[in-house]
Amino acid sequence: MIIAIDGPAASGKGTVSKRLAAHYGLRHLDTGLLYRAVAKTVLDSGKKPDDTEAAIAAATALDPANFDEAALKSAVVGEAASYVSAIPEVRAALVAYQRDFAATAPGAVLDGRDIGTVICPDADVKIFVTAAPEVRAHRRAKEYAAAGKDGDEATVLADIRKRDERDSNRSASPLKQADDAVLLDTTNLNVEQAVAAAIAIVERNKKR
Ligand code: C5P
Repeated sequence: MIIAIDGPAASGKGTVSKRLAAHYGLRHLDTGLLYRAVAKTVLDSGKKPDDTEAAIAAATALDPANFDEAALKSAVVGEAASYVSAIPEVRAALVAYQRDFAATAPGAVLDGRDIGTVICPDADVKIFVTAAPEVRAHRRAKEYAAAGKDGDEATVLADIRKRDERDSNRSASPLKQADDAVLLDTTNLNVEQAVAAAIAIVERNKKR
């Protein structure tokens, strides 16, 4: 079974995806890490994230086996990722890895922005996870505080709005609910309620 989860930053899609993968015994790929790793390589080499040549070179040479997830999860890298991810050649360089991951037994949950629309258009189940921007900012600011990183809620909210805007309005694979995706709004749900709702969606929609 392949489950495609898309949605904006801090919507809860990562948590829902991990929990769905554990529940159904599937592999999980957080595809945001791929774009974050490309962005971090570009930043580490002293270049700007909108440096197309540097970003394409980084995407082509990417080795997902060597990801340092904690370092990739910073706000600076997330922001830079939304620039490199708008470059069509960067996206193209990452397609095969994602499709191979999805196609490998026993199946997978992939989460990102274009999984249901571009990467796995034939996924068995597609869920579009969203939440009000203020709620997403509150959750993300709490995560930063728990990890000892700074990030006051107003700044996080402004960053989230900018990132949503860039991800939704780019021409290459924009963030968009697939026509056949089920909407899961987690604004008023806690983690357990969101996971239960996602499992219910899979149960209702999976191909038998
Ligand atoms: O999901 P996450 O916040 O880690 O993603 C970081 C950035 O990577 C997003 O803001 C988006 O620009 C990009 N991304 C993407 N397509 C994906 C996953 C992430 O464009 N499938």
